[in-house]
Amino acid sequence: MVEGVDGSTLGEGAAQGRQPSLFVLGAGAMAEAFIRGLVRRQAIESSQIRVKNRSRRDVLDQLQSEYGITPAESLAEVADAAVVVLAVKPADTVLALEQLRPYLNGQLLLSFAAGIPIALLDQASGGKAAVVRTMPNLPVAVESGVTAVAFHAKVSSHQRLLARFLLEQVGAVVEMDEAMMDATTAFSGSGPGFVCYFLEAMEEAAEQLGFDEATARALLLHTVAGTARVLLDWKLSPEVLRRRVTSVGGTTHAGVQVFEQSGLKQAVAEALSAAASRSAEMGRIYRGGGSA
Ligand SMILES: NC(=O)c1ccc[n+]([C@@H]2O[C@H](COP(=O)([O-])OP(=O)(O)OC[C@H]3O[C@@H](n4cnc5c(N)ncnc54)[C@H](OP(=O)(O)O)[C@@H]3O)[C@@H](O)[C@H]2O)c1
Repeated sequence: MVEGVDGSTLGEGAAQGRQPSLFVLGAGAMAEAFIRGLVRRQAIESSQIRVKNRSRRDVLDQLQSEYGITPAESLAEVADAAVVVLAVKPADTVLALEQLRPYLNGQLLLSFAAGIPIALLDQASGGKAAVVRTMPNLPVAVESGVTAVAFHAKVSSHQRLLARFLLEQVGAVVEMDEAMMDATTAFSGSGPGFVCYFLEAMEEAAEQLGFDEATARALLLHTVAGTARVLLDWKLSPEVLRRRVTSVGGTTHAGVQVFEQSGLKQAVAEALSAAASRSAEMGRIYRGGGSA
């Protein structure tokens, strides 16, 4: 068992003296990634994770056989949970919360729904839960993600630690003002897609340089993972590391000059700005305040 936030295991240390358990509503890709991280890291006794979806019982059975979770028979089981995880699509979020409302009584509520603001989550839950809005990204599926979190003012300090502890099982956690959440959706949410786009270009260029696909892929992925590792371990900015590996007249310098001339930074800035605008726009649609 991994140590919990207060030195106990989560199994012993859940909030407010409730039977320690997690109720996960939604059993899709995000729910599975989160459950996998919790179970693999032994952060919580797997049978204490109750999971409910809308209709796909086969999915719950598969999660049970793979991770040892307990399929929930009824939403009423929420009443005994210390933590409720909302892992349904943004468009289903308000309805799902309204269905949960009769069973909420102060639980920590972790929402994964992109674009759904804390105020709406709080309203839909009748003010009966301590709401945390989160924005995880794809690498949480391999416990190497990053999750941005914003807390409602009424989330207690114990619940904040508990939220961080749970989310840290699938990667890093970064706390921020809710106002930055749409930008985060565009930045770290869409980030894996943007990085892949650049890697795609690197692979196409590798072919022109004469590499076979497998060799190019191995060189590329280890270069990317290794560079990220160096930046994290040595606590360097990308600019500092780039300058360190760039000697005037050398190979990196020759390549970077072409990036500079072709306006790569400007294209990246425009892409991120477009993604952030789209994220804000989609948030307005989910909240019922705008059209696509
Ligand atoms: N996937 C990602 O990489 C990612 C990244 C960041 C954030 N997110 C967020 O995570 C959330 C979940 O995304 P996902 O990709 O996991 O979705 P998904 O695979 O489509 O799964 C959605 C799940 O919600 C269930 N559901 C819908 N309405 C429900 C209701 N009223 N009561 C109970 N269960 C209900 C569905 O059940 P049935 O199958 O039975 O209909 C399904 O299990 C979204 O809000 C998304 O914005 C996802």
